[in-house]
Order: sequence, then C-alpha cells, then structure tokens
Amino acid sequence: MSTLDKYFYKINDVNINVNNLYAQSECFNYNGFYIYPMIDDFFENAFISDNHFLKWLNTKHPFKCALIKMQPNTTYNWHKDVRRGVCINVLLNHTDSYTLFSDDIFDESNGLYGDIIKMNYENDKLYLFNNQIPHAVYNFEGERTILSIEFMKDKNELSYENLLNEIKNEYTQVAH
Ligand SMILES: [Fe+2]
Repeated sequence: MSTLDKYFYKINDVNINVNNLYAQSECFNYNGFYIYPMIDDFFENAFISDNHFLKWLNTKHPFKCALIKMQPNTTYNWHKDVRRGVCINVLLNHTDSYTLFSDDIFDESNGLYGDIIKMNYENDKLYLFNNQIPHAVYNFEGERTILSIEFMKDKNELSYENLLNEIKNEYTQVAH
C-alpha cells in the first residue's frame, strides 16, 4: 500500500472512453468552478455501459457525472468538501495546474502552515479522491478540465476508506 493511498488512489487498468462523454452546453458556476452536467441519455447508455468498472460501481453506488472547468490563473483554495466523502476524478486536460493535499493545514496550532502532498494526476486515468482531507487546486496556465464522478451517497453514507477497500477487495475479484 502506498503512503499516498490515504489521499488518492489511481484505479489501474480502467480506461474511459472520452468519445462517450457528452456534456450539456449550459454550465453553472460553483465557487469559480464551471460545471457542465452530462447529457443523461448518452451518459447512461454509452459512458457507463461501455465500461465494466463504471457499470459495477454504478450498481453498488449510483453516481452522476460532470465536466468541471477551471480558468487559468485561478485557485480553488484549501477546503474539505461539505457533502462529498469521496469522488472519482479524471484529469482530461490541463497545461500547468497542481492539486495538493495537506493533513494539518486546518490544525489550529499550525494556522495556515502545513506539509503538502502533490497529486500526480495522469491524464485520462481514474483517481479515487479523498474529499475529507484538506485539498486545493492551483491553475496557472490554460483551461483545466476534469471529469468528476459524484456519488448520490454523501460523506455520512460513503467514505473514501470504505470505497477504496471495496474497489481493492471486490472489483479486482470480478472477472473482466
Ligand atoms: Fe474539493
């Protein structure tokens, strides 16, 4: 087990077909993130059904999906997600952006100081993401686009640790 597993986990051997992604043209702004929900028919029919892992996952823990765009020279500063315990992110494109985690940045004795861990996102790969450890995104150049898979279950119903264990112990045993 990697020491980074508590922050994020690359789901190996699962590739998504980006040609099956059809986002709505209308977006809404959430704290500087521009969110484009998926078009449901395409999402259900092609994106999930073409992918063994996503089909398995959606049966166990139903999810929805959106493209999230971030403009250059912007940050999404240190936070824990209000609702989500865990999500799955796929970095689709970026030029110079950084996703960081910190264990102690919200520790009052440390104030705003803390150790940081850089997430080395590989494009087009699925990453389980721990939304309950403080994290931040800095985008220095170009538009940054991620696909974010968000579960219907909130942080009280589905934790990062539980889903990580399920994926490691159950998904790998399924023939695919
Ligand atoms: Fe977040």
